[in-house]
Amino acid sequence: MFITFEGIEGCGKSTQVRLLRDYLGSLGLEVLVTKEPGGSRLGKKLRSMLLSMENKDITREAELFLYLADRAQHVQQVIRPALKDGRTVISDRYADSTVVYQGYGRGMDPDILNRMNLLAAAGVWPEITFLLDLPPEAGLERAMKRNKEKNIAASEGRFEAEGLDFHRRVRQGYLEWAARNRNRFVVLDASGDELSIFEALREKVNQALRLEQF
Ligand SMILES: Nc1ncnc2c1ncn2[C@@H]1O[C@H](COP(=O)(O)OP(=O)(O)OP(=O)(O)O)[C@@H](O)[C@H]1O
Ligand SMILES: [Mg+2]
Repeated sequence: MFITFEGIEGCGKSTQVRLLRDYLGSLGLEVLVTKEPGGSRLGKKLRSMLLSMENKDITREAELFLYLADRAQHVQQVIRPALKDGRTVISDRYADSTVVYQGYGRGMDPDILNRMNLLAAAGVWPEITFLLDLPPEAGLERAMKRNKEKNIAASEGRFEAEGLDFHRRVRQGYLEWAARNRNRFVVLDASGDELSIFEALREKVNQALRLEQF
């Protein structure tokens, strides 16, 4: 099974990914946790190019192609082989991030982006995508607090540095895109505490695991 997590900065993706990894591990499943950008060796280089403030002059098209390159490499080198081995793969961000950030966020056409994703993802599509929905103010506050605790400079991320308008478009974009892809999206209110969010999430995963047995 392939599960992805989506949502704005600081909504709690990495936190829920860890909780789910531990839970699935406790059931005896072999789990691979990975992320985008940066899920492959080449991808790590692309990630530092993509997130660095040094590249704040990048055009939105160049940015798009770097994300797609990261995904193509990630799918072929990491995700598909793990799924073939029977592992459960959890990815912290995947194809929907491109549609939402480059599409709803930067103003490119979501349907064209979706088609480019079909090429980059080479037919590897998640069974479940969790969207952790949170107002951007709350997400940015969580992210800022986390960065302070970990001593990461606020100016380090190109996306954290975007204005509130951008993050609002991204949040709305996620909700719209999730509504257009109801078959695999599960939208969760991410404003509660970590464990109650995880309770709801685990219920959905259990359902999917039961279905998989038939
Ligand atoms: N439900 C929650 N309530 C309050 N704080 C939370 C909750 N979930 C996570 N956090 C805290 O908020 C911060 C951001 O969470 P996390 O790193 O999981 O988000 P993220 O979506 O992975 O962010 P990014 O997009 O920047 O990677 C962390 O310090 C985390 O401990
Ligand atoms: Mg994270």
